[in-house]
Amino acid sequence: MRGKFITIEGCEGAGKSRQMRELAAYLEKKGVDVLVTREPGGNPISEQIRTVILAGKNTAMCDECEALLYAASRIQHLTETVIPAIKAGKTVLCDRFVHSSLAYQGYARGLGFEYVEQINQKAMDECMPDCTLFLDISPRQAFIRKGGVDKNDRVELAGEAFHQRVYEGYKKLLERYPMQMVAIDPSGAVHQTTAKIIEELQKRRLIP
Ligand code: TMP
Repeated sequence: MRGKFITIEGCEGAGKSRQMRELAAYLEKKGVDVLVTREPGGNPISEQIRTVILAGKNTAMCDECEALLYAASRIQHLTETVIPAIKAGKTVLCDRFVHSSLAYQGYARGLGFEYVEQINQKAMDECMPDCTLFLDISPRQAFIRKGGVDKNDRVELAGEAFHQRVYEGYKKLLERYPMQMVAIDPSGAVHQTTAKIIEELQKRRLIP
């Protein structure tokens, strides 16, 4: 039986990785075979691409190069990691996916949703998630919670106005993909956010 594919999105510091871990722990207790992975990354080749994209020294990287590297990392991740796991019946939990490219490169960098959809066509056509959870917290609040910017991360260093555009981009995506994407308010305690996520996924019959 085909497994489920659930992704989580949000601005830097929204708490995505923590929520992925909490959800995975819940599912494992229920006996679900889970794979937790992330983008960019998730396997050796995609992780190497991640290092190039995020390196603080790569300030000369143009927007199209960035978008294509994310797409390259993604296609390797899909082919080597995500699709085989879904075919094996696993529930795949992925920290960021194509919606990050749409919000960051498509909207905030200004390349357009259509361009990003085009360079991610396999992901768009064959591997859209069963549900995309958007942790709906503004970048300002999220950076405060995270304790500031990571000075070695090129994207985090892009400035407040950029991250505000990312947030607006996600809001547009909620309208563009209303069936698949759902906003979760993460402003409460970690366990409260996890409970909201579990409830939403149960409602959609994606998890026990
Ligand atoms: P992370 O910090 O959540 O691991 O993500 C790495 C950075 O990459 C983060 O700043 C968001 C950015 N990103 C994009 O700009 N486009 C993408 O497609 C993905 C997956 C991440």
